[in-house]
Formats: sequence, structure tokens, C-alpha cells
Amino acid sequence: MITSKQLRSKWLSFYESKGHVNIGAVSLIGDGSTGVMFNVAGMQPLMPYLLGQPHPAGKRLCNVQGCVRTVDIESVGDASHFTFFEMMGNWSLGDYFKKEKTAWSFELLTKVFGLDADKICSTVFAGNESAPRDDETAQLLVSLGIRPEHIFYLDKSNNWWELEGTVGTPCGPDNEWFYPLADEECGRKPCDINCPCGRYVEIGNDVYMQYKKTADGYVPLENKNVDTGFGLDRMLSFLNGLTDGYKTDLFSGAIAYLEKVSGKKYDDGGDARKAMRIIADHTRTTVMLIGDVNGILPSNTGAGYILRRLMRRAIRYCKALGIAGEEMCNVAKIFIEEVYGEAYPLLPEKEGYILEEIGREIARFESTLEKGMKEFEKTLAGIERKNEFMAKQNPDYVKESVIGGKAAFKLYDTYGFPLELTVELAAERGYTVDEKGFDEAFKEHQEKSHAVAEGQFKGGLADTGVATTRLHTATHLLNAALKQVLSPDINQKGSNITPERLRFDFNFARPMTQEEIDAVEKLVNEKIAENIPVVYAEMPYEQARAEGIVGVFDNKYGDVVKTYSIGNFSREMCGGPHAASTGELGHFKIVKEQSSASGIRRIKAILE
Ligand code: ALA
Repeated sequence: MITSKQLRSKWLSFYESKGHVNIGAVSLIGDGSTGVMFNVAGMQPLMPYLLGQPHPAGKRLCNVQGCVRTVDIESVGDASHFTFFEMMGNWSLGDYFKKEKTAWSFELLTKVFGLDADKICSTVFAGNESAPRDDETAQLLVSLGIRPEHIFYLDKSNNWWELEGTVGTPCGPDNEWFYPLADEECGRKPCDINCPCGRYVEIGNDVYMQYKKTADGYVPLENKNVDTGFGLDRMLSFLNGLTDGYKTDLFSGAIAYLEKVSGKKYDDGGDARKAMRIIADHTRTTVMLIGDVNGILPSNTGAGYILRRLMRRAIRYCKALGIAGEEMCNVAKIFIEEVYGEAYPLLPEKEGYILEEIGREIARFESTLEKGMKEFEKTLAGIERKNEFMAKQNPDYVKESVIGGKAAFKLYDTYGFPLELTVELAAERGYTVDEKGFDEAFKEHQEKSHAVAEGQFKGGLADTGVATTRLHTATHLLNAALKQVLSPDINQKGSNITPERLRFDFNFARPMTQEEIDAVEKLVNEKIAENIPVVYAEMPYEQARAEGIVGVFDNKYGDVVKTYSIGNFSREMCGGPHAASTGELGHFKIVKEQSSASGIRRIKAILE
């Protein structure tokens, strides 16, 4: 058994023994320089130094840095997703490079953590027009004792690391480390690091940051840097042989407490376990964001809105678990006093303030929750009345089951219901929400009140333009990939994009198999890796049809249509806007494939 405290100190003392200076952690709140709202990687605060500015602590640095990534918020509740995690990192700022880095990562894994060199797998960059194939790293790995057959060359979608959606930032090919959770193969051949069974876990990566991402491509940096990141939470469960990230000492206190107050057992699984995970994860992130050196408070815009969403989701899941929302304060106390107080001394210092602010938000939410629920019921009753009336007029009338964007916005604006709360409540009653309509109502409101969007943030609501553009392009790639993998007869039957994810409905009579899902994902990621320009053209509708350009055309566009082409792979009539090229998209992942209506399937996908 290794504890989180031991893991933190093993990491730091190993790299200190190799001449690195522990520079400590910085604020979780982004400084705005990259346009990213939260700190999403250990390298983010070090960007100026990776680009060449001298760092006051020297050329060899290490730390354990907290990160917040909310793009996965919908996945929290499973065994491995968190909105806050710690990244164990070390850096060479133009000092040592591949030889030392491969040797030290290998030494750390085999000597300090006792992993078997015969089982370690590693992936390196396969090369493309921007950077060569990384044979050098592969050879170094073999000379250290990694089996040649355990080294895999992968493309840019896997083995290239950069901060999504940014330019002027350092990046480069990476070397990722994998280890099998079990020796038994799953039966598929080969059951290697690419096998969907998940036998192999990625435990960390060494990025060879030697390029700068510009609007026109990648240019070599003067310095050849190393940027290493190993996720502490993931490594901790891995080293303890756990497949559930909520079983580590980081969460055991919070979970035990939730079991005690709810009288429910985590190991019984189901909704109670999901609720416990969500409460624990969101409370931890809440503590970290309010207790940060640049601490934030819940609000209705920017980072504050993300925090509010997390808090209100946690409070709601307290209720689902059958406990009072106030219990969130007691869970927060456990994180501050028993888990993170030592590594984050500011938390115990700010404890009174953090608990008070959580208490306030609970009270604010509670005071509107009842009224909001009444409004919600009123909205549903309205739809049901209309359905009844229409059904009487017309027996073929298809009942409406969508809560309008304006109604969802009223719940948000007047009653403090974050959108996903309305979506979750609606789903429980068999309804969906017009999320696009919500975004429109939101924008309209913003324009009306002349509110200045608080920054062009990634992942926030204020930036629907920036975040959704990439997802829009991904939707076109998905549409084309489905035609190729499933059938040329696939047609788009609906699409909805939020800053977090795309949703795509299409005609197909049965659930997709896992193999088909994997093939579609792979094809989209290949097209992203090819960095194909997205080309815009206007042409007469007849010409577009003649050229086989797909799309729903109606007269509102006039006779001339707007088209977007992604090489020969995808050509669609569409109003845009789109990313300039597919390389901007990042990694495409299908998170759900489900039925939408009879004969219609629905895919939800994200860009990571
Ligand atoms: N920057 C790399 C990461 O975040 C190390 O994974």
C-alpha cells in the first residue's frame, strides 16, 4: 500500500536527487495568457520558460501541480474521471533531453515503484510532416531494457502533446508509458496497448517540447525541453492495484463519511455509488477552487459559473443519496483536514472561509430550489396540456417531449438551475432540453444586458463561439466517418452542440457494435491527425447537389449555398463557422451511442 503523501514525496525526492528544484504548485485559476480558464496541465504556468525565458530556479524543475479539467464533467460518476487531479511533473528547460529522461523515467518506474521492465510498454511518435519519427527515443528505450515488441509508433492523435485551442504555445512529440493491470490477456489478438479491453493503463508521459505551435504550423524552438506529467490520482490507484480511483486514500475518508450519513454502501454500486463519487469529486474541486491562492466564488459567468455548476450538482446528488445538501460542508472538511491540508497549507488557513462560502451557496440554492422545481413542473404540465389538446385534434400527433430553450433559460436565470440540472431532471421524466435554444436565449440575454463576456474562455458558457466551432467541424467528420463505416445511406437527423460535447442523430436501425464505434473514432482521429484544411465555398444549389455535396437544403438560404469541404472526405452544405483545419480539433472521443427514436441512433462525442 502506498499513500498519496508517500507518492508525492517519492516523486519529488527522486527528481531532487537528479538535480531538480521543487518549485511548488501555483494557482489553479489560469492567468488568462492562454485563454484557458483553469490550469489544465503542470506545464501551463511554465510556458514562458519552455519558450525560452530563463527560470529563476534554474533549468531542472519539478513539482506536484493541481489541475482542473471540467470537459469530463458528464463522465464523473464512473471509476476514473475527476474534475480535479494532481499532476506530478518535472522539466528540463533546454538542459538534458531524451537520453537522461528515458533513463530516469525507467529508473523511477522499475527501481522506485518496482515495476517489471519486461512488462512495460511505451509509445513514441510515428512522425508526420511537422516532426520526424522518434526512432531515437525508441532505441534508448530498448537499450534500457524495454522489449522491442513493447514499443509502438503512434500518430499525432496519440503521441503529440499540445494545449488544445491555443497558438504560440510549446508542444512536441511524446513518449507514453503503459503497464498491464493484469497478466491475463482478454482473448482478442493482439491484446496490447491498443486493445479496447483496457488491460493496459497509461501511467504517464514525457513530452519532448521542441516546437512552438503557430497559426501556420509548428516551428522548432531554440531550446529542446522536456515536460513530464504523471497523474498522481491515477498512479496512486495503479500502484495500489486498484481499478477504482475512488478507493485511494484521497477519497476513502469522504466515501466512508457519505456511507455513514446515508446508511448506504458504496460497494453495492448503482446510483448510490455514482452519487457518492460525484459528491466527493465535486466537493474536492470546490474546496480547491475556493481555497486557491486566487480563489474564486460561485457566480453566473466564467470560472464562477463552472464552480456553481459543480457545487449545485454536488448538492443535488446529496439529495439523491438521501442526505442534506449541508453534508457537502462536512465532506469538504474531510478533504481540508485529513487529506490535503499538509500539501496545500492554504486550505487549513482558509478553512472557515471555504466552509462558509459552501454553506452560503447551499442556502442560495435551497432557497430557489423549491420555487424552481415548481416552475419546472409548470413547464412540463404546459407541454403535457398541449400534447393532450393536439392529440385530440389530430390522432397522429407526435407528442412533444422537449423543454424549450427559453424555459430552460428562465430556470437558469431566475431560479439558479444550471443547464445540466434541468437536463438531468428532464431525463428522469423522459424529456430532453433544447440546449441550442438555451444557448440562444443565453446569448440574447447577454446582448440585451450588454454584458461583456468574461473572457474568451475554453469550456465556459461565455465562449460558446470558440468551443463549439471545433465540435461543429468534428460533427462533419463524424457524419462522413459514419457513412464510410456503416453505410453510404447514413443521413444526419439532428445535431446539437454545447461547449462540452456534440450530439449527432442519424438513421440506423440497430445499435452500433463496439468495433464500429472504434472504427468511426479511429477514422475521425486519422482525419484530425492529417490536419486537413476546412475549405469554404459558395456555389449554386444545383451545382452542390451535382457534386454530391450533402446537406439539408431549404429555401431560406436562397439559391446559392455555403459549403464546407474537408479534403475529399467530407463535403457538406452548412452555414459554419468551422475550424480552419482539422488539426485544431484535438482527440475525438465517442462517449455515448444510444437510441434516439425508432430507427434513429444518437452519438455523443467530445474533443479532448
Ligand atoms: N504536459 C503533459 C501532460 O499534461 C506532460 O500530460
